[in-house]
Amino acid sequence: MINVGIIGLGMMGQMHLAAWTKTKGAKVAMIADSDPRRAAGDFSGSWSNIEGGADSIDMSKVRATGDPMELIHDPGVDVIDICVPTPFHADLALAAIASGKHVICEKPMARTYKEAAKVARAAEAAKGYFLPAMCIRFWPEWDWLAKAVASEKYGKVIAASFQRIGTMPPGWFINGDMSGGALLDLHLHDTDFVHHAFGAPSAVSTGGWVGPSGCLDHMHTRYIYPDGPIVTAEGSWAASPNFPFEMSYRVVFEKATADYKLGRQEGSLLLHGPRKSSVVRCAKHDGYHGELAYLVDCIKKGRPPERVTATHAARSIAITEAEDKSARSGRIVTIKQNP
Ligand SMILES: NC(=O)c1ccc[n+]([C@@H]2O[C@H](COP(=O)([O-])OP(=O)(O)OC[C@H]3O[C@@H](n4cnc5c(N)ncnc54)[C@H](O)[C@@H]3O)[C@@H](O)[C@H]2O)c1
Repeated sequence: MINVGIIGLGMMGQMHLAAWTKTKGAKVAMIADSDPRRAAGDFSGSWSNIEGGADSIDMSKVRATGDPMELIHDPGVDVIDICVPTPFHADLALAAIASGKHVICEKPMARTYKEAAKVARAAEAAKGYFLPAMCIRFWPEWDWLAKAVASEKYGKVIAASFQRIGTMPPGWFINGDMSGGALLDLHLHDTDFVHHAFGAPSAVSTGGWVGPSGCLDHMHTRYIYPDGPIVTAEGSWAASPNFPFEMSYRVVFEKATADYKLGRQEGSLLLHGPRKSSVVRCAKHDGYHGELAYLVDCIKKGRPPERVTATHAARSIAITEAEDKSARSGRIVTIKQNP
């Protein structure tokens, strides 16, 4: 049995806690939170825009601490799962990597590309495995899309557009120095998926709105692939409070069109072919369980994670920084292929 320690038991820590309980071969053995109430297993007052997080924990089955370093160095913990706010990711990830244990770190891997590159260098030389929690790559309908793009089963992609639209989350997220605004906190999911499925673009052209976070809180990017597909993504924290969170994509292949919308009644993923339309049935789990199950599988097989590496995740952050530069300058910004 692989023993897991979760650092940070807020919205995402509770989501990971629920996902770990569904993951065979692993169990949560320890938790750490700087808030003594949370470290004592009181999850009341947590924010959430996603269903599925644990609303309680059996404290008789886990050890708890207020000090993340105690968890990192605890001999009873094999995998360190970092779910604290973004500005604390890099330092905790570096300490966790240095312990020689396996590490999973919530996205964004760090607040800036510079910090993320430092984590990536440490992860490359680490004794344990490191998985950046880019959950979208592990969401079944998105994994289906990445495979459809790579295999060209439906021909080449002519155009792909991605949307991730929501309202401003509460608390520290409104401070862009901490969260990076919707650009880094939300839209990074799509930038990373585009990077994963289509490779690094040669340049980006972004229209953006600086919102209450002081960072881009609404943006629309064209990822430029000369002679390649037309790829765009829109992200926002600027939607009105009653707007239901939207996560969707539409991909026009030469021989079919894929249309995904989270939570759609008739089926989240529809595939429209030349003669008929059908619902694509994918595995039912979410990306959180997907990424944790993948890490456990890698550990059991003694095979380093390759579906997403720290270096790739860091480069996705570099692309969002180019998007920021493009929006603020009104120019197309070239992406350095090896930043
Ligand atoms: N993958 C996704 O879909 C997704 C969704 C939401 C949030 N996130 C990411 O997850 C991370 C956490 O976000 P959240 O919404 O859970 O935040 P949150 O504010 O709900 O919870 C953070 C928790 O960490 C604790 N904490 C803060 N600093 C700490 C420290 N130094 N040591 C130990 N505990 C500490 C807080 O007390 C709190 O319980 C963020 O980086 C966020 O971007 C990812």
